Amino acid sequence: MKIHKINQQTVFKSSFRQYTPKANKDFKHYGKMIIKTYSKTLREDIDLRDLLRYAVPHFKDVPVVNTYSLACSDLSEAYSYKIAVMEEVPKELQSKFSNVFASDIDKRILAAARSGRINIFSSEFAEALRLYGYDLTKYFKDKKVSVMVQGDDISESDTISSYEPIKELKEKLIIKRSDILTELKNIKDNGNSIVMSRNALPYTSDDYIDEVIYTANRNLKKGSLFAIGEFDNQAIELYKKLLAKDFFCPLSGKNNNIVFEHI
Ligand SMILES: C[S@@+](CC[C@H](N)C(=O)[O-])C[C@H]1O[C@@H](n2cnc3c(N)ncnc32)[C@H](O)[C@@H]1O
Repeated sequence: MKIHKINQQTVFKSSFRQYTPKANKDFKHYGKMIIKTYSKTLREDIDLRDLLRYAVPHFKDVPVVNTYSLACSDLSEAYSYKIAVMEEVPKELQSKFSNVFASDIDKRILAAARSGRINIFSSEFAEALRLYGYDLTKYFKDKKVSVMVQGDDISESDTISSYEPIKELKEKLIIKRSDILTELKNIKDNGNSIVMSRNALPYTSDDYIDEVIYTANRNLKKGSLFAIGEFDNQAIELYKKLLAKDFFCPLSGKNNNIVFEHI
């Protein structure tokens, strides 16, 4: 089957934040930490709190749940998921939900992910508290280098700083260089997966998207979840495409949640 190459130029143009020369200079002192894509912790386009409240009873009969963050960027999404697990899942079940397999195609962003630190905007702390009631200062420590940035995707200037995630966020987290389609092709699923693929597919080709959906449909067993964000849905009507396959959307319309269950 033919796999169409994605246009990386498009991906990077739209996904990388533009930093001011001052920000670039300051972050250079910390080498790999310069990179951050258009990603942030606890994004509003998917409510991980609701996702987990649904997933806990849904997966009650499986021994372990594997979560995949496809196009993981700087691990904002993987860390957000782990935070939501610690906040929402009963203590005795947390280890069942803690395996995360994160992958991305871009070498530079993976180097940033593997640096063990993450850049976070100050507004993300306020937003996590407002949207979810989560206090991110419990999860990200050792604040270093704060710089003011004015980026493409933020309308006002904001301060961004480098943090170290606490060790619980880094445990049972496997980072790998791979593309969305390859990961889905190789997935060993037993109806116990949560696959998150957010804010990357809209930058790929129609053929690539169709093949991702075809592969998800073929390789995910009954019960596994496929989560996209509200943005993906608006951009490429993934909702309709997935519904046309054997997926249904149990949390449809609730807090932007576009989480599909394979039936
Ligand atoms: C805008 S970020 C989204 C990050 C994250 N999923 C989120 O929602 O916060 C887009 C990321 O997708 C990655 N990417 C783009 N196309 C990809 C593909 N076909 N397979 C894997 N990663 C891809 C880019 O390298 C970039 O890190």
